[in-house]
Amino acid sequence: MARIVAGVATSHIPAVGAAWDNRKTAEPYWRPVFEGFERSKEWIAKLKPDVCIVAYNDHMSAFSLEIVPTFAVGCAAEFPIADEGWGPRKVPPVKGHPELASHIVQSVILDEFDLTIVNKMEVDHGLTVPLNLVFGSPKQWPCPVIPLAVNVVQYPPPTGKRCFDLGRAIRKAVASYPDDLRVVVFGTGGMSHQISGPRAGLINEKFDKSFLDRLTKDPKGLAAMPHIEYMREAGAEGVELVMWHVMRGALDDRVKEVYRFYTVPASNTAVGHIILENDAKPARKAAPKKAKAKKPTRKAA
Ligand code: DHB
Ligand code: FE
Repeated sequence: MARIVAGVATSHIPAVGAAWDNRKTAEPYWRPVFEGFERSKEWIAKLKPDVCIVAYNDHMSAFSLEIVPTFAVGCAAEFPIADEGWGPRKVPPVKGHPELASHIVQSVILDEFDLTIVNKMEVDHGLTVPLNLVFGSPKQWPCPVIPLAVNVVQYPPPTGKRCFDLGRAIRKAVASYPDDLRVVVFGTGGMSHQISGPRAGLINEKFDKSFLDRLTKDPKGLAAMPHIEYMREAGAEGVELVMWHVMRGALDDRVKEVYRFYTVPASNTAVGHIILENDAKPARKAAPKKAKAKKPTRKAA
């Protein structure tokens, strides 16, 4: 049986990808950002997930304003890297997991959660930058990745609660997949940022840190936050944070916070990152242990 073992949330700033590609990670401006992910790389190298499901947003690379799906699941075997204006980034193509993706699509849609099925799609910085931050830059990504594109570019994006509930439906789908796979779910985007308009450059550290706290301890309350609060407190693009609720909804109610990292500045955005693991400990006191079974007596030959 497949199961979700952990969740990762991280910003997906495109300039982080450019810093990576142009070998600027050790420069004073970028070093604190990349150092903040060293522990995450060690953590995931130890965990060795079999599949990652990445909730991210397409920035008009695969889709355009002609068609804007609210939730789209990539069921292809491979997702080429999109050209975002400077040629496709030289990172490996993303290999999918068509069997698990199709299973999720079937389970979630039959659970009355309508998704768009995507059988051909390029992926942009929204997906590749989080992979770089957590996996570094290997020749091939170490495991298959199922892209889950969430609309946060054209009004109205889905609510935080809808994203959380989708995470729950994905959790149920994964649990009914027969193969023994350990799955990590990513929520990407955020934290506070506003790219244009009179409030361009907005960063709200207090909001971001409270969001990180509540993601662990008060996930349902946090998922109920209305869009207007993201806009007011975290800036227009801060609404990308709704994607973090997909990850949180896919985890158990009780989670263990393994690591968090927060730094400003990086491009226009506050970099936030958190790793949560399902807390395997039982919530109540365990029942008393049963008496030890007797050692079987060896049968005479
Ligand atoms: C920036 C951040 C984003 O999430 C994005 O999609 C584009 C730009 C930025 O910080 O510049
Ligand atoms: Fe973005």
